[in-house]
Amino acid sequence: MVTANATTQRVWVDAAATPDAAAGPVGWMDVVTLAEKAVGVTFAYDPTYLARPDAYAVSPELPLAPGPRVLRSMPGAFVDSSADSWGQKLIRRQLRAEGVTLLSEVDALVGVSDEARTGAFRFREEPSADDEEAYVAGRAARVPVVLDLRELRAAADRTRAGASSSEQAIAELLDAGTAVLGGARPKALVRRKGRALLAKFPAPDDEHDAIRWEAVSLNLAHAAGLATSRVRTIEIGEHAVLLVDRFDRVGKADSVVPTKPGDAGELRIPYWSARTATGDGRDYLDVARVIRGMDATRDVVRAQLRDLWRRVAFAVAVHCTDDHLRNLGFLRRESAWRLCPVFDIEPDPVQERLRSTAIVGVVDPDAAPAALVALAGELGIKTSSWRRSLAQVLVAVESWPDVAKRVGLAEDEFAAMDAAIGHRRDALAKLLT
Ligand SMILES: Nc1ncnc2c1ncn2[C@@H]1O[C@H](COP(=O)(O)OP(=O)(O)OP(=O)(O)O)[C@@H](O)[C@H]1O
Ligand SMILES: [Mg+2]
Repeated sequence: MVTANATTQRVWVDAAATPDAAAGPVGWMDVVTLAEKAVGVTFAYDPTYLARPDAYAVSPELPLAPGPRVLRSMPGAFVDSSADSWGQKLIRRQLRAEGVTLLSEVDALVGVSDEARTGAFRFREEPSADDEEAYVAGRAARVPVVLDLRELRAAADRTRAGASSSEQAIAELLDAGTAVLGGARPKALVRRKGRALLAKFPAPDDEHDAIRWEAVSLNLAHAAGLATSRVRTIEIGEHAVLLVDRFDRVGKADSVVPTKPGDAGELRIPYWSARTATGDGRDYLDVARVIRGMDATRDVVRAQLRDLWRRVAFAVAVHCTDDHLRNLGFLRRESAWRLCPVFDIEPDPVQERLRSTAIVGVVDPDAAPAALVALAGELGIKTSSWRRSLAQVLVAVESWPDVAKRVGLAEDEFAAMDAAIGHRRDALAKLLT
């Protein structure tokens, strides 16, 4: 029998400079790992962080207080900035090359390159932060890959000229080898004149053109009055790659990492998924509870609740069922958490698929329209107000075939989506009659 021994690893947590706050240490964390799982976490804030006027609890489980705090699992905000399933595949491959077969939650945390990491945390495995190298663990440097937009364009040109297949071009770009390409959807950090974009590549086992459907959905969401990051696609052979502006970065990367808000360079914005913010919520009512608990004026809270309702109505209208609470998030600007732009949204061709997050207890898509009315009641949104939002959502969603053609979707993909989207849209339209 193979038994795994518990190991303890210390990680130092720093904050990058944000548009509102200077860079500095946040604290340290000891993680006890058994096999791959973090079974115990001790976190302590650095006294200099606690003394800052702009200090905030960096994760909901870590209230601002001196002394170590013991948790049974990794704080949610750190999970949010760990490697996703694609990044984990890359880290696993590197670990295997080093003869290591297990990937711990700490590996998934520190194995992400500092430059690409979601949100504003920076992690070190060394106590000293004297030099920038401290933030880049050896194996983290290329997880995920950082590309310049010109490299993507060159790959597109190569496939157009017939010099390489799109699969070859993508595998080369990602430096991934075909062995790791299966399963997870690859992502990369793309630089366009120094600005940060997120690229999502197709997974070889995608049953439909998920990338273009996501581009369609984001365009429709924008037309429906929701905040979205700027989105475009780039064609590599017959495949499309999705490019969206990173909402957790502002400014342009240059060789000097800024330490204060006014400095030139790229500033980072703290991020929490709604999963983290709600502490494992399962219902949009949990998200509403977080919004109501915000330190904000009544008007701001009401606007956020209306925004939340419109997002849920939009997700129902395009039959996006993968609406788990890591696909919704908050950004921290001007000392306040606010809903971040919409991301990871696409229609599901399986009409009867249950929704991932409940709307007032309802996950059955057939019952979603009535649940939306109940949600509006729970959020205190007047009938005239939600009807206006819904009308705008439906007008936007109505235009999906034009947008799909513009994005280059093959017409043989239309029928399944037409059925899925049409079904939900018609049911929602009845709420307005
Ligand atoms: N525009 C963006 N800017 C910054 N971070 C983003 C942006 N879009 C997504 N993210 C972050 O990247 C993570 C992964 O993105 P996304 O949810 O789109 O991919 P995914 O869940 O792996 O997608 P899929 O299920 O389609 O493979 C998100 O959970 C979010 O934290
Ligand atoms: Mg996602």
